[in-house]
Formats: sequence, C-alpha cells, structure tokens
Amino acid sequence: MKTIAILGSTGSIGRSTLRIVSEHSGRFSVGALAAGRNWRLLAEQIREFRPRLAAVLDDEVARDLKVALGRGTPTDIVTGERGYGQAAALSDCQLVVSAMVGAAGLRPTLAALAAGKALALANKESLVIGGALVTRLAREKGVRILPVDSEHSAIFQCLEARASDVRRILLTASGGPFRTRPSAELAGVTPEEALRHPNWTMGAKITVDSATMMNKGLEMIEAKWLFDCDLDRIDVLIHPQSVVHSLVEYRDGSVMAQLAVPDMRIPIAYAMAYPERLETPARRLDLSAAPPLEFFSPDEERFPCLALGRQAGLTGGTMPAVLNAANEVAVDAFLGKRVGFMDIPRLIAGVMAKHRPADGSGLDEILEADIWARQAAAAWIDEANPGQ
Ligand SMILES: NC(=O)c1ccc[n+]([C@@H]2O[C@H](COP(=O)([O-])OP(=O)(O)OC[C@H]3O[C@@H](n4cnc5c(N)ncnc54)[C@H](OP(=O)(O)O)[C@@H]3O)[C@@H](O)[C@H]2O)c1
Repeated sequence: MKTIAILGSTGSIGRSTLRIVSEHSGRFSVGALAAGRNWRLLAEQIREFRPRLAAVLDDEVARDLKVALGRGTPTDIVTGERGYGQAAALSDCQLVVSAMVGAAGLRPTLAALAAGKALALANKESLVIGGALVTRLAREKGVRILPVDSEHSAIFQCLEARASDVRRILLTASGGPFRTRPSAELAGVTPEEALRHPNWTMGAKITVDSATMMNKGLEMIEAKWLFDCDLDRIDVLIHPQSVVHSLVEYRDGSVMAQLAVPDMRIPIAYAMAYPERLETPARRLDLSAAPPLEFFSPDEERFPCLALGRQAGLTGGTMPAVLNAANEVAVDAFLGKRVGFMDIPRLIAGVMAKHRPADGSGLDEILEADIWARQAAAAWIDEANPGQ
C-alpha cells in the first residue's frame, strides 16, 4: 500500500488523482490532502478518503471546513504555509502529488523533497521559477521527480536511453482554442472563449495559458530542468489532435513518441505507480479510427508568449520567476476582464524588460523577484486602465 499526500486535491489534477486512488484502493491510501479555499469539496474528500491531515489556505477556510465536518473528525486541520509544509512532509506518506496551481506550489514542493518523499510533479511553476533549487534538492535527497504534465511524462517514457544520445526534445501543443484565429481577431477574444479548450478539461489558469501558448513557454523551462537539456535543443510542435504527447529525437535519426487519448489519468497514474503501469478507465487509442494526426510549426508572431518563455529560460536567474508572476497576474486580470487577451504578452514583456535579473539560486531571491513582478504587473494594469 502506498500512502500519498495530494497538494491541490480540489483542483483538476487533484480530483483525477483521487479518482485513481478510488479505482485502486488496494494499492493507494491518502495520508494528507491540501487545498486552497474550496472547503466544501475538501470536506467531501476528507469524508471519503479519511486522511490523517488536511491543510487549507487560512484560518477562515479552516473554520468553515471544521463546521462542515462536524465534531469527532479524525483529520487534523492545519493552515497556511506551515500547514502545507506539514502535509508535504507527513511521515505516513511515501509519495507527494504536487498539484497546486502557480508559484504557491514552490514551497510545498521543496518541503516534500526536503522530507525525501517521492514526488509526482504537476505544479510546473515550481520548476519554472525554482528549477535550480528544486533539482538540486532532489539530487541531494536522491529523489527522482516523476513528471505529471502529459508532455513531460511522454518524454520521460521515451527517455529510457542514454541522455547523451538525445538530439532534441519535441514538446507537442494542441495550439489551444485560437490556433487558427487571425491575429486581428485575437485582441477581442473573451475569457469564455479562452476557457473552451478543444481537447483538455483543466483548471482556469492553465487553460488560459494554453490559449496564449504561455503553457508551452513554461513547459520548455520545465523540460530544461527535468531532463537537464539546453533550451536550444527543446522545440515545440503544434499537434491539434493531442494524441502524440511529445517526442524525443536521437542522434541516429530515431524518434520516440508516446501516444494516448488526451486523458490526464494516464500520466498521473504512471507517476503514481512508477515503474509499474496501472489499468486506467481512459479510452483506448484506436489509430485506425482516429482522425489524421497533423503537425505544424508554431506561429510565434500570433502567440508571443512562446518566445517570452524561451527568452526568460535563456536569461535564467530570477527572470523565469518574473515571467511566471507577471503571467499569473495577467491571466487573473484577463479572467476578470480588466485587460484584453493580447495585453497578456504585452504586460509580461513590459515587466520582463524592467527586471534586472539576479542569480536566482536562493529561495529568498526568487520570492523577492516574484513579489516585485506582481507589483510591476499591477502597476502596468493601472497604467493601462487609468481611472478604474
Ligand atoms: N489540469 C491539467 O490537466 C494539467 C495538466 C498538466 C499540468 N497541470 C499543472 O498542474 C497544476 C494544477 O493545475 P489544475 O488544472 O489542477 O489547477 P486547478 O484546477 O485550478 O486547481 C488548483 C489547485 O490549487 C489550489 N490552490 C490554488 N491557489 C492556491 C494557493 N494560493 N495556495 C494553496 N493552494 C492553492 C486550489 O485550491 P482551491 O480550489 O481549494 O482554492 C486547487 O486545489 C498547475 O501547475 C498546472 O499547470 C495541470
């Protein structure tokens, strides 16, 4: 029996992880759950999975959660950064699934590694902003990071050969809901349209990141750290059907790819049971009945976030933390209809241009850059919307 902690249990990845636990209840049990504000769903999860510990954002959420659970619940409720750290390091758990969204996932990810837990990593932002820290700690603790992102899971599965023989990594991208939208129309697209992803059902932030293609910008940096591969050997390939989840090209010309229907339960289950494979209820891939598989080069003029991601990754230091924070603020403002879709790359480029990157090898420096970038992004929005 493997006991797991799920950070971000109320989110899209967290809920899928719990579904896998239910389907394999003889193999997995839940030791800790951590969520943000959704105490209603967390209360249901606690009743069903009976973890020893549950962590939420603050005392107010904890109060509502305790009322919902009633007296006599065996689960300890803890709060804030300290509580997330406790959930990540709980002695009962062997595996931590890190699936919070955004920079908030960094500290709990580090706490899991510091405690020597096996780590199934969905929270790509912790590698984007703290890649050097996270990978150094994993090495020190002898922990292998198991990627949950479907593209990185695909690469991980294709990379069971010598890394020195790899010529390049090809990350596939669906192209999102605006893949074929002319540039003139992109400025006017609405949050509702951006949230309608053609292939995947995901949380709001990553769905908007897919629409702007910042998701691929973040994933290039994630892949650099996960697979110790220079950014000039990481390319993006548009593949609208989301069947080929990524590819690795070797120096002899061979290309390895991992294929499956787009269903996150497959990469999550692989990370949870690695190196074994579990039965999943995902639909089987029938290539003879599948639509033609298409591949295109990305259009970086219509989707400037891709180039911004690469630029931040190449600059390194604190620049990826700035890219990430500016993006989180910009996506939030877009969802709140305070800025337009094409303001997202404009805002990020504006904030990045003002940043003087520091080395970024320490947590304090990264968090300072994150706070600076959030303030710079808020100022950018105020300037763009005077009087609001
Ligand atoms: N969804 C996918 O298919 C997918 C695929 C690949 C990678 N990922 C990555 O996986 C991560 C999670 O994505 P998602 O789509 O599952 O996101 P989501 O549905 O928005 O869920 C986010 C989770 O994080 C929690 N959370 C949000 N802000 C928090 C904070 N400040 N402190 C603590 N917890 C907080 C939320 O809690 P409450 O809801 O309780 O507030 C929720 O449990 C992201 O890094 C994303 O890039 C997702």
